[in-house]
Amino acid sequence: EKGGHDYFMLKEIEEQPQAVADTLLGHFADGKIVLDEQRLSEQDLRDVDKVFVVACGSAYHSGLLAKYAIEHWTRLPVEVELASEFRYRDPVLDRSTLVVAISQSGETADTLEAVRHAKDQKARVLAVCNTNGSQIPREADAVLYTRAGPEIGVASTKAFLAQVTANYLVGLALAQARGTKYPDEVAHEFSDLESMPALVQRVLETAPAVRAIARDLAQSSTVLFLGRHVGYPVALEGALKLKELAYMHAEGFAAGELKHGPIALIEDGLPVIVVMPSPKGRAMLHSKLLSNIREIQARGARTIVIAEEGDDTVRPFADDLIEIPAAPTLLQPLLSTVPLQIFAAEIAQARGYDVDKPRNLAKSVTVE
Ligand code: F6R
Repeated sequence: EKGGHDYFMLKEIEEQPQAVADTLLGHFADGKIVLDEQRLSEQDLRDVDKVFVVACGSAYHSGLLAKYAIEHWTRLPVEVELASEFRYRDPVLDRSTLVVAISQSGETADTLEAVRHAKDQKARVLAVCNTNGSQIPREADAVLYTRAGPEIGVASTKAFLAQVTANYLVGLALAQARGTKYPDEVAHEFSDLESMPALVQRVLETAPAVRAIARDLAQSSTVLFLGRHVGYPVALEGALKLKELAYMHAEGFAAGELKHGPIALIEDGLPVIVVMPSPKGRAMLHSKLLSNIREIQARGARTIVIAEEGDDTVRPFADDLIEIPAAPTLLQPLLSTVPLQIFAAEIAQARGYDVDKPRNLAKSVTVE
């Protein structure tokens, strides 16, 4: 049942190409993005003038990525917030606000309460969920199901990639309803998404190299993760995986914040994982990160760099280099997250921990 693996999580990491492909399946028909359950009219979708994304944990990180895509494609303002903070604030919502609630289980207490808080103020709710018939989609006005299949490992892997995929579909659905993208542009973005499963499959081939680096770093006390733009939520997700699986101190930073404090943490041998953007897609971002790596390497950090294949500019600054295929900027997180999952799982195994059942954690957090 674990497909020849010691742990479900390792099997679920390998199922990610399928999870992304299945999440796309049936969501584009007759040239249009389709939701699974739409109890909202097309006019309601067109009238949306503001988006809030609410979620917890890894689902929240997928929501941070949604912001880049939704703002870019729809020109709607998007705020992303932890469900546990949103529900206790007094957010400004009305019937033209769309609240996107992301939850693998569909039962997370804080996310469910955030949905209720939103509905009390007449906001519309769209659920991105992996579990049919769970509470959050039942209370939502529209649903887009991630089709990752059951996730047994407590740490989210394939559900996370499926959430990122589904969030992008939500962005495209809004762009289509608002007319901020022409039908052929929506079709083009969708076909880019369809090319991702094969690329995720290729990233899985980096596993032996990633595992070797992980074993080498298994006794570190801290690992830092750096990224910019869509690489920033990836850095946060990489750090969360390492905390929960390997019980190791880890922190994700926006690379631009380095000089505002975190660079003081850098000392000899400190492992820093850097998520590089594509040199072609975002040349400016790329050169900024390159100078960040140079700075931390000069201060003695051990740099582990995730970069696009053929990006030779990073080589002099990368103590270890993990290459991933080229992909459109917004879609790169579907690739760059994967080595970080493998990295955390391998360190946890090297330290002798149960990868599927990290201490103190439950798969579904139904108490607050
Ligand atoms: C981390 C992880 C958790 C969940 C969070 C939300 O690996 O799995 O952070 O992402 O508890 O759970 P759902 O998506 O079920 O609402």
